[in-house]
Amino acid sequence: MKCPKCQFDNREGVKFCEKCGTSIELVCAKCGAKIPLDRQFCGECGHDLSRPEEAAPIDYNQPQSYTPKFLAEKILTTRSSIEGERKLVTVLFADVANYMSMSENLDPEEVHQIMDGCFKILMGEIHKYEGTINQFTGDGVMALFGAPVAHEDHAQRACHAALSIQKAVGEYEQKIKKDHGLDFKMRVGLNSGPVIVGAIGDDLRMDYTAVGDTTNLASRMEGMAGSGAVMVSTDTYKMARDFFVFESVGKVPIKGKEKPQEAYELIKASEVETRIEAAAARGLTKFVGRGQEMQVLKAAFEKAKSGSGQVVGIVGEAGVGKSRILLEVRNMLSGDENTYLEGRCLHYGGVMAYLPMLDILRLYFEIKEGEQELEIKKNMKEKILQLHEKLQNALSPFQDLLSLKIEDEAYLKLEPQQKRERTFEALRDLFVRASQHKPLVLAVEDLHWIDKTTEEFLDYLIGSLANARILLILLYRPEYNHLWGSKSYYTKIGVDQLSTPTSVELVQSILEGGDVVPELRELILNRTGGNPLFMEEFTHSLLENGTIQMKDDQYVLSRKTSEIDVPDTIQGIIAARIDRLEENLKRTMQVASVIGRDFAFRILQTITGMKEELKSHLINLQGLEFIYEKRLFPELEYIFKHILTQEVAYNSLLAKRRKEIHENIGKAIETIYAERLE
Ligand SMILES: Nc1ncnc2c1ncn2[C@@H]1O[C@H](COP(=O)(O)OP(=O)(O)O)[C@@H](O)[C@H]1O
Ligand SMILES: [Mg+2]
Repeated sequence: MKCPKCQFDNREGVKFCEKCGTSIELVCAKCGAKIPLDRQFCGECGHDLSRPEEAAPIDYNQPQSYTPKFLAEKILTTRSSIEGERKLVTVLFADVANYMSMSENLDPEEVHQIMDGCFKILMGEIHKYEGTINQFTGDGVMALFGAPVAHEDHAQRACHAALSIQKAVGEYEQKIKKDHGLDFKMRVGLNSGPVIVGAIGDDLRMDYTAVGDTTNLASRMEGMAGSGAVMVSTDTYKMARDFFVFESVGKVPIKGKEKPQEAYELIKASEVETRIEAAAARGLTKFVGRGQEMQVLKAAFEKAKSGSGQVVGIVGEAGVGKSRILLEVRNMLSGDENTYLEGRCLHYGGVMAYLPMLDILRLYFEIKEGEQELEIKKNMKEKILQLHEKLQNALSPFQDLLSLKIEDEAYLKLEPQQKRERTFEALRDLFVRASQHKPLVLAVEDLHWIDKTTEEFLDYLIGSLANARILLILLYRPEYNHLWGSKSYYTKIGVDQLSTPTSVELVQSILEGGDVVPELRELILNRTGGNPLFMEEFTHSLLENGTIQMKDDQYVLSRKTSEIDVPDTIQGIIAARIDRLEENLKRTMQVASVIGRDFAFRILQTITGMKEELKSHLINLQGLEFIYEKRLFPELEYIFKHILTQEVAYNSLLAKRRKEIHENIGKAIETIYAERLE
């Protein structure tokens, strides 16, 4: 079986690619049987697999009836490893503001019809951001973002979904007004906090237990929201504030809480979409280290400039500083002598074809927000003709990409495959032509979230780079696999955590107003393991909750280090990464986390009862840089690369399970070291 993603030739009968982990099965739309990708008919029921699924009416009590396939698959493939875990989520409640008066004034049939339309909007918007709907209430919905599968940006996703719901309902209201003469508005409330994910059934039904008042507070926020508005709690606000505009509504009393809590109205998405933009908007910390990485990039640019195209991968885990390096490259290359264009993939953008290419086109054609269509088209044409008249051909595909009106009848009649070819050619020709004019730097951020079409386009483009004055810079996390590694003009820059001296420099520049006492510096260094994002987030959260205080021009700690928790943002990033692991690896890591930051192979082997396969799991985890081999003698020991990874894995386990593992560790130590203990 050839893998559709990486083309690896797999053994017959495997369900996932053994090279890159992509699913190589189809699910029959009729009977749900799993079938290899290359088949035409279902072996179980004879269904013609090329025929689209007939739309069945939606049953709002049956999650498998309303959950889209891509989400259902994600949940089912990971479910056994997420059951019984503690997760950080954002809870969304939405309901119809004037449901009572609507049901009094209309007959039940009409109300049913209106609500059906409303539920479809809710489903569409929530699923778009990969939320899971837990329950349809009579007049609304409850959904979770970040469970069952963890998302590092659950709060952002929930905010996007809430705004999209209000927008779509606003349009729907116009129709209801026309048909029934009624106002139709929704209230939405959000709160973030922990929940425990219970069993997940074959039918996708997920049990969950609220921890503390995670869900109550979300429901309370919804109750307080005005018609057509979105209200969020302080916890959600803190996680999403960089990316959205909020208005504080002041402190509000909450049932069951002694002190009133701050609530915020979510107004709109801000211009800031990525973490590095948010950091830049707040003011960047001084750039430290990375001299070698910058050298490599500079050399690659010089080569490209002289006519031998280069591809550079900047590869490293979340927060290690990839985007920051790119930002410094952009500053280094700024000026009129070259063109710099950058596009980014978004976490929830995997379904939007050409997303990063759209950024790049908008930059190239200098398209501004809200600009008139005619103006855009005129400018595009001028710019294209300036490059070369042959590029005329590219106009229709570009208009298509940018959702502008296309006049070219012949283009409109093309089959999708032909349109795609035209688009690929158009983009490539634009880049190559532009680079003849001035050296071109193309950067694509966060390839681990790339859509399939852009991915294929990049492969195609890389094939034509060898003699172009183009430097293509690609940023991604280590878990992303690709095909171009073998090209002689490809260079990979592995971005590792900062060295200790560089980390010290960074901590001092984050806390620039005074000296950092050694105890505090050690705490930050130990907990964040040289990851600059973690250093910034951790330090800021300590400042915000008063753990770091200023005394006589010195930053000091006001609490015991053992009482300090991992901030939610970091926890989210790590939890999402752990959830993407294959189940065996994740389980191994969780059990190891109970032993401690360092763990001996023999103990792990005894408590898991695994034999040879444990070795291979650990080798895999090493490859992914979750753990390192600490020493071989006198016995094999491993260590978690980040103490935070160990903490997050440990925190995801329920107390009961931890206790069991602790007991088993005790027993294992007794048996293994019996002689020594005597
Ligand atoms: N070498 C560095 N010097 C100073 N700050 C850095 C450095 N590397 C990263 N940072 C900061 O750490 C944060 C995370 O870095 P970022 O580049 O966004 O990580 P990544 O893109 O790898 O996820 C940003 O705020 C960035 O400014
Ligand atoms: Mg980045």
